[in-house]
Amino acid sequence: IDQPQVLSEREVASIERQQTAMSAPKAKVAVLGAGGGIGQPLAMLMKMNPLVSDLSLYDVVGTPGVAADLAHIDTAAKVTCATGPEELSKALYGCHLVIIPAGVPRKPGMTRDDLFNINAGIVQGLCEGISKYCPKAWVAIISNPVNSTVPIAAEVFKKAGTYDAKKLLGVSKLDVCRAKAFWAELAGVIPAKVDVPVVGGHAGVTILPLLSQATPKVDLAKDKAKALMERIQNAGTEVVEAKAGKGSATLSMAYAAAEFGNSCLRAMAGESNITECAYIESNVTDLPFFATKVTLGPDGVQDVGSLGRLNELEQENLEALKAELRGSIQKGIDFVASGK
Ligand code: NAD
Ligand code: LMR
Repeated sequence: IDQPQVLSEREVASIERQQTAMSAPKAKVAVLGAGGGIGQPLAMLMKMNPLVSDLSLYDVVGTPGVAADLAHIDTAAKVTCATGPEELSKALYGCHLVIIPAGVPRKPGMTRDDLFNINAGIVQGLCEGISKYCPKAWVAIISNPVNSTVPIAAEVFKKAGTYDAKKLLGVSKLDVCRAKAFWAELAGVIPAKVDVPVVGGHAGVTILPLLSQATPKVDLAKDKAKALMERIQNAGTEVVEAKAGKGSATLSMAYAAAEFGNSCLRAMAGESNITECAYIESNVTDLPFFATKVTLGPDGVQDVGSLGRLNELEQENLEALKAELRGSIQKGIDFVASGK
């Protein structure tokens, strides 16, 4: 007699995920900057996502090659490509999720803010397109400096009358990936068993990992916690220096953005309890934008998590990051107001 098969919790969760994927409405996802170091692997990972029905690749150069290459992967997502501003409407029309890794990356010695002069205008132009051609889409911004480019996007959408704060998300997930990877090493467990909230912004001291809230708990002396916090804050620079002039994190960023994009699509499809850390318009602190853990729902951010209890080191860092983050936010707002 056949024994009834008992499924593990993990197997049940996997079947439920597959069922959700199969019954979910399929989405059109655009990657703007699809020819770049992040854009290409991100586009590949989104091509492999069963929630994506249409994958729209946009860049100012190089999209036909990337699209032809990805179109030969035997997954369902249909790949289309568009090149240059005159084809932006085609890229964006009907999109549910737009992910933006367009713009220049850092070289050694630069700060993310040094990218502002070039990337601010790029993000502004792309967001003007979004407000015209897919004003209801979720928008995930990767282009640096994220602390300023997200406020830029918000101002562009406000000007166009299409702003929905719940659907504008700055992608700070790479900070969480790094924090989890480093914490897992320390705790001696696999990263999937780890949770580390990272709040604040996405540049240097504005990146605030809340190690006192990390699980599993590890007892760390204050100097060790400070060193780990600083490693997470400087992890982007660690990659920039290792690449020695050939750009910044691309593969880990593509992974982080693909996971983040997947969370957005699952929430859009009606799955509940989807949480991510994201840099959003917020009233958790006295700053107008701030990254915290959020719960995503079908219409975007549903709940914004509180900061919880901070230890002394984290409290000091929170106070110290405010001036820089406030300045970066205002710089973005002023850029759009100046009409440049
Ligand atoms: P890259 O130079 O390899 O690629 C950028 C791509 O953007 C290029 O293909 C370029 O042609 C394209 N582009 C330029 N102007 C454009 C426009 N107007 N419209 C569409 N596409 C345009 O750079 P990358 O390594 O992919 O990095 C891209 C951005 O992502 C940088 O600003 C970098 O600092 C940022 N970044 C952010 C994070 C994060 O955690 N948020 C992590 C890594 C990198
Ligand atoms: C990162 O954190 O890797 C990115 O913001 C890229 C950079 O310039 O460090």
